[in-house]
Amino acid sequence: MQFNDDDKLSQLLKINDELNHIKDIDSLLDTILYKTRRLTNADAGSIFLLDNQELNFSYVQNDTLRKQDPLNNKQIYSSFSIPVNEKSIAGYVALKGQSLNIDDVHNLDDTVPYSFNSSFDEIAGYITNSMMTIPLISTRSQVIGVMQIINAKDDSGMHVPFKTSDENYLNFFAGSATSAIEKAKMTREMILRMIKMAELRDPKETGAHVNRVGSYSIEIFQKWAEIKGLKYKEIKNYKDILRIAAMLHDVGKVAISDIILKKPARLNDGEFKIMKTHAYQGAKLFHGNVSDLDALSFDIAYTHHERWDGRGYPRRLRGENIPLAGRIVALADVYDALISARVYKPAWEETEVVSLLEKEAGHHFDPDLVEIFLSIYDVIEAIRNKFPDKE
Ligand SMILES: [Fe+2]
Ligand SMILES: [Fe+2]
Repeated sequence: MQFNDDDKLSQLLKINDELNHIKDIDSLLDTILYKTRRLTNADAGSIFLLDNQELNFSYVQNDTLRKQDPLNNKQIYSSFSIPVNEKSIAGYVALKGQSLNIDDVHNLDDTVPYSFNSSFDEIAGYITNSMMTIPLISTRSQVIGVMQIINAKDDSGMHVPFKTSDENYLNFFAGSATSAIEKAKMTREMILRMIKMAELRDPKETGAHVNRVGSYSIEIFQKWAEIKGLKYKEIKNYKDILRIAAMLHDVGKVAISDIILKKPARLNDGEFKIMKTHAYQGAKLFHGNVSDLDALSFDIAYTHHERWDGRGYPRRLRGENIPLAGRIVALADVYDALISARVYKPAWEETEVVSLLEKEAGHHFDPDLVEIFLSIYDVIEAIRNKFPDKE
């Protein structure tokens, strides 16, 4: 369905309101791109965010590729960056702070300083024709990134140029998208700061580890929800809070003494008993259920060490009595601990980790979730590449 101009304006106002309710930066970029593409009937798009004078590839959507390979969620976790200069289209838009509406990237005027980089098309087997690139400019007039939408389609699905009127709408929309992005970035930074506080106590809980656990968790949930037939909106809302809550799974460790957390040897029974209280201590931080995010963070902190067979801690919950999010994070957290090197142990071999997960399906872990996890393993690997441990 294509919108007329009046519809577009009222749609934009509605979207603005929606953006202000999204907490997680990745969910937000997902929504911004999705809505922008629907308004302009664009097949694909990506968002780059500026960091240290480089445009970091931060989010992508592509209907054509997604239809060919439903698992291509792994594209989201690609990581590359482009310098801000006149040579690339995105770099040029970031540098000048002005949008570019290009009818055909393969037919650029000789006088322009930028050129189209076809490497993504070549790797993905995709053909880009029309492209609109919009700068994301903050209220302080700083460019914080660019949004690029690709291949407008007519009613028959043919690639056509983007309309000039769309350029105007999108420049207007980019302003509110930018404030929402800045807010969500602040939330993400606050969470990473909370995690850094826990990391001061327990060096195992690094930013890279929690980023990976957050991403694995939403991907496991996405697949689970698709199988269960949950609605798009329900999935989207849950993913928005799940990533943040999963990242916070171990913040309760701030309450555990250094003597225990940093002990270079095995914990004795008494020490392990104290260590186990981090689940309860974490839950206490989110007690009160002020928001959905608090409630989910409470569940995850409290139940991420429960086991499917009822032999976990602290409450020895069993099977589906353990909240879904707790079961998801248990799997994501143990997988990441095993596959990564830690001060006290080398990384396990991939085959060993996978066979342990298979063996523990129905014992430590929810068997359905293990099956889902293994079915999206290429996405899991892409996440690991995106958030490597720092040397
Ligand atoms: Fe934990
Ligand atoms: Fe962890």
